[in-house]
Amino acid sequence: MNHLKHVAIIMDGNGRWGVKYKKSRNLGHKEGLKTVEKIIKETVKNKIRYLTLYAFSTENWRRPEKEIKYLFNLLENFLVKRIDELHKKKIKLKILGTKNFSKKLNTLLAFSEKKTSKNHVLQINLALNYGSKLEIINALKAMSKSKNTINEKNFIKYLYTKDIPDPDILIRTGNTKRLSNFLLWQLAYSEIFFEKKLWPEFNEKDYNRIIKKFKKIKRNFGNI
Ligand code: FPP
Repeated sequence: MNHLKHVAIIMDGNGRWGVKYKKSRNLGHKEGLKTVEKIIKETVKNKIRYLTLYAFSTENWRRPEKEIKYLFNLLENFLVKRIDELHKKKIKLKILGTKNFSKKLNTLLAFSEKKTSKNHVLQINLALNYGSKLEIINALKAMSKSKNTINEKNFIKYLYTKDIPDPDILIRTGNTKRLSNFLLWQLAYSEIFFEKKLWPEFNEKDYNRIIKKFKKIKRNFGNI
C-alpha cells in the first residue's frame, strides 16, 4: 500500500456551479469554501501531512475586479474567523506565491503563517498569486546568483515548496483535464485524478474514493 503524504488540488468549477444554482459566480466561490473546510477535516482524519490548494493563480488577475475582490474578501474573512481554530488543531498555514495583495491581506497572511509555523498535524499550502512558470524562473534566477552546482537536488531548494515532499496525488475537479500552470516541476510523478464534479459538489466520499484508489496503485517511478 502506498503511503500518502501530500495531496494537491485544483479546485475548479466554482463559477459554473454558482451560475447554475445561484445565478452568481461569486456565490459559487462562497460554496466552494465549504468544500475547502470539509476537505481540510477529512485530510486530518486521514492523517495526510500536506494539503496544497490552488486558490488564485497569476493568471486569475485577468478576471473582473468584482470577482477578484470577492475572492480576497472571502479569504480574509476565512482567516479572521478560522485561524485560531486551525491553530488549535495544530494546522500550519503556508502561502505559495508572491504576496503582493492589499496591506491588510499581506499582514493577515504573514500573521497567520507566523502563528501556525510550529504546527505539525497538517500543513496547508495555499497557492495564492501562484504560477509555476514564474516559480521556476525565479528559482533559476536565484540559483544563478549562487555558487551551487545546477542539479535537481540544489534546484528544489529555490522553489516555494522547498522542505515539502512532492504531491503523491493531484486532484482537479470541474471536468477539465489540464494543469493550468500548477506545480509543473513538483507533479512530475504524481498520480492525477480528474473529477467530473464541480468543486462545490465534491465531498468527503469522493475524496476517500480517490485516496483508496491511490493506495492500491503500483508506483514505479520509472522502474519496472
Ligand atoms: C476555480 O473555479 C476556483 C478559483 C479560482 C478560486 C478557488 C477559491 C475557493 C475554493 C474559495 C475560496 C478559498 C479559500 C481558501 C478562501 P472557477 O471560478 O475557475 O470555476 P469555473 O471554471 O466554473 O469558472
